[in-house]
Amino acid sequence: MNLSVSLGNLKLRNPIMIASGVFSLESAHLFPLDNIGAIITKTITLNPREGNPPPRLWETPAGLINSIGLQNVGLERFMKEELPSYLELGAPIIVSISGEREEDFPFMAEKLVGKGIAGLELNLSCPNVAKGGIQFGKDAKMVKRIVKMVKEASSLWIMPKLTPQAPDIVETALAGEEGGADALSLVNTFLAMAIDIRSRSSRIGTLMGGLSGPAIKPIALRMVYEVARAVKIPVVGCGGIMSAEDALEFIIAGATAVEIGTACLINPQSPKEILEGIKRFLEEEKIEDINELIKTLRD
Ligand SMILES: Cc1cc2nc3c(=O)[nH]c(=O)nc-3n(C[C@H](O)[C@H](O)[C@H](O)COP(=O)(O)O)c2cc1C
Repeated sequence: MNLSVSLGNLKLRNPIMIASGVFSLESAHLFPLDNIGAIITKTITLNPREGNPPPRLWETPAGLINSIGLQNVGLERFMKEELPSYLELGAPIIVSISGEREEDFPFMAEKLVGKGIAGLELNLSCPNVAKGGIQFGKDAKMVKRIVKMVKEASSLWIMPKLTPQAPDIVETALAGEEGGADALSLVNTFLAMAIDIRSRSSRIGTLMGGLSGPAIKPIALRMVYEVARAVKIPVVGCGGIMSAEDALEFIIAGATAVEIGTACLINPQSPKEILEGIKRFLEEEKIEDINELIKTLRD
């Protein structure tokens, strides 16, 4: 049975990736990593970030609201202190990068060339400080510009991660493709709130946070379907994938690979279990090659 998939020039042994922000070197020992398609690091920024004030997490009946605020040690320390250990984990490493201004993206990309990574995911769900705080990923022109700049600055494989907060996700997907992206991933979290009625205060320190988990799956699935029909480059689906059946829905909708996020926080074995479930399904359906299943939704 063939499980390997190609995301442009990047070939993966199977379509299961660990999403950004749910994996760390500290928790690596909890994950069975011998058969993961790729690991995406938590987002790294040029300068270190302390992250947002607590509370940073709130669990809802079908999802998780988080407001971590891209806590990280900054690019320099990441490359020196963390990247060498990531590269020893035995799975391709995709580094997620983000910036406070457009120029941060190509600057960081250039620094990461020749360091042994499989590629870059561009986290476009953060505010552009230089442009009044608008999320990079909400503005199609900005998406195209950033992707183009990163491609020009580096030879790396790159995958912009689209935000569902964009007014038209197909438009931002097309902009990413026009900019020269090798693949697109979608979606990041949906802006959300939860309120403590007794104290009349937000459950989240920054008032709002990003919703992930089963609650967002049907919307993420619809977005993946729409984007996969509109672009020619491979699409990586993400959002509420908790089971093999969820992953298969995304693949049938048009995703070449999937990212597992919140499910890893509940059970770090879930990427492995999802892969095993996919294998069982392919056997039952007598499908020899996972690629035969991609984008097979019937009209
Ligand atoms: C605790 C937490 C931290 C996250 N941190 C990041 C991050 O650093 N960069 C990023 O691009 N996405 C981050 N995400 C978003 C996930 O990668 C993913 O896009 C989103 O959670 C939807 O997928 P899921 O429903 O499978 O979790 C984070 C999600 C969670 C729950």
